[in-house]
Amino acid sequence: MQLINKAITFSSLFGLIQANSDKSGTDVSIPTIEVVGNKFFYSNNGSQFYIRGVAYQQDTSTSTTGATFIDPLADYEACKRDLPYLLNLHTNVLRVYAVDTTVSHKKCMDLFATHGIYIIADLSQPSESVNRDSPAWDVPLYKRYTDVVDALSNYTNVLGFFAGNEVSNNASNTDASAFVKAAVRDVKSYVKKQGYRTIPVGYSTNDDAEIRVQMADYFACGDQEEKVDFYGINMYEWCGTSTFEKSGYKDRTDEFRNISVPVFFSEYGCNEVRPREFTDVGTLYSSKMTDVWSGGIVYMYFEEANQYGLITLDKSGHVSTLEDFNYLRSELGKISPTSATKGSVTATSLACPAEDEYWRASTDLPPTPDQDLCSCSLQGFGCVVSDDIKSEDYGDLFGMVCGLVDCGDISTNGTSGEYGMLSFCDDKTKLSFLLNKYYENRGKHSTDCSFDGSATLGSAKQHKTCQAVLSSASASGRLGSSTAGGSSTSRSSAIKSRLSMSTTITF
Ligand SMILES: *[C@@H]1O[C@H](CO)[C@@H](O)[C@H](O)[C@H]1NC(C)=O
Ligand SMILES: *[C@@H]1O[C@H](CO)[C@@H](O)[C@H](O)[C@H]1NC(C)=O
Ligand SMILES: *[C@@H]1O[C@H](CO)[C@@H](O)[C@H](O)[C@H]1NC(C)=O
Ligand SMILES: *[C@@H]1O[C@H](CO)[C@@H](O)[C@H](O)[C@H]1NC(C)=O
Ligand SMILES: *[C@@H]1O[C@H](CO)[C@@H](O)[C@H](O)[C@H]1NC(C)=O
Repeated sequence: MQLINKAITFSSLFGLIQANSDKSGTDVSIPTIEVVGNKFFYSNNGSQFYIRGVAYQQDTSTSTTGATFIDPLADYEACKRDLPYLLNLHTNVLRVYAVDTTVSHKKCMDLFATHGIYIIADLSQPSESVNRDSPAWDVPLYKRYTDVVDALSNYTNVLGFFAGNEVSNNASNTDASAFVKAAVRDVKSYVKKQGYRTIPVGYSTNDDAEIRVQMADYFACGDQEEKVDFYGINMYEWCGTSTFEKSGYKDRTDEFRNISVPVFFSEYGCNEVRPREFTDVGTLYSSKMTDVWSGGIVYMYFEEANQYGLITLDKSGHVSTLEDFNYLRSELGKISPTSATKGSVTATSLACPAEDEYWRASTDLPPTPDQDLCSCSLQGFGCVVSDDIKSEDYGDLFGMVCGLVDCGDISTNGTSGEYGMLSFCDDKTKLSFLLNKYYENRGKHSTDCSFDGSATLGSAKQHKTCQAVLSSASASGRLGSSTAGGSSTSRSSAIKSRLSMSTTITF
């Protein structure tokens, strides 16, 4: 890609930023964005809000710390450096893919808020997300997701959260969507329980022809408590010069017309033809599409090996804009989308998609991960995994012990909608459950709690608080009368017996 080494001067802007960022202590408050029907609105005055977004996260190739990601909202100098360029691109939304929940985001968040820029944050991070090949919605992931919510919920310029990005990406792994939808449900419920403002929770999908419509319907269907509040599709169909009809945008618009929540391009900007002239922008924000779409997020700000950037950074941290930057700025400068009113949008409800040869995700979602139930169960086991066994070695042990006892209680199936009662626990608890089950089945001889030193006798004692947790789980039907007595789930005994037949499990 050709560089255009024309530094833009923004001295007047910088003056403004500095003046505003001096107020410390209180958060900058700007009107929150709310969802009504299939559109976004400014909550202060009811103007429709269209996303003019940029994906904003550097990869780790320049990192010297070995971190798995670079938090784009933690480095105030970088946020300050990039702000003028983002404003120059008419940006009002940044999509960030991973944030570090242990550091403060206040300075960047306030800086962006001061300039009317909202954030949509993915809740996962590279090593903590729903794995499409062995999906789970479990205690560790629940903690990661709710930690991000805790870290960002105070900022009025958080537009929303993505509970997943491109998890199910073809017909072979649609079952993973049940786990993502459970994450949507539980994050929405957590936000409510904590008394945070109602922050929308959505999902960002890839664009796979076989499952695109069913997937959108799946996430947008059902009860308010579990459906997404908005839906993003990562869209790379318009390359170079094209048209509404030829690009596929018309077909997608027809397909998504009935989705009852706001939909937008959660990434766009095909780079098969470069430089990118972004000739699709005018169409995206025109009346051909604005009934259905709420704008889009250009992928992405930083130029990297994949060549989707708008700017480059040199070694000293100096920004140079690329040709793509100027094209995008010019195209976004020309749009003037119509503004709907809240009263005019209709909120329709959508039927969940039937299962067919492509779509295989159950509308029975996995249970809410319950840390107390896991730790109380673990305390009660007479036989547990030894502390000195590394978690990398758990896989072999699971394989071995699942050949000896029924593993239904720790297994899940997002197609049939069957989820074992401890399936959401951490691996240590799940493995200990199995070791203990073997030990109990064999009559509790200490020799049956060894596995060559991998297992060790546990305390088998429960604290008072745990008795309450376990009896409440038991009363709600989540736990059987005995943890050693085979599987029992919140569902019918028919499911129970099917569960106890499934013994294959992959890790
Ligand atoms: C509504 O408020 C937003 C945020 O303050 C502002 O950007 C927008 O221009 C306002 N709309 C109208 C019609 O005044
Ligand atoms: C959010 O705001 C509340 C009330 O002002 C405050 O107690 C809390 O510490 C804030 N949380 C974060 C993560 O900033
Ligand atoms: C589906 O994705 C998996 C990886 O997640 C891949 O191995 C497989 O080939 C893909 N199948 C199709 C039909 O694209
Ligand atoms: C949208 O809804 C209309 C009216 O119910 C229906 O005729 C049409 O087939 C639906 N379109 C899609 C893509 O589902
Ligand atoms: C999950 O359930 C489906 C539908 O009942 C079944 O076809 C599939 O074999 C099950 N998968 C596993 C791993 O048991």
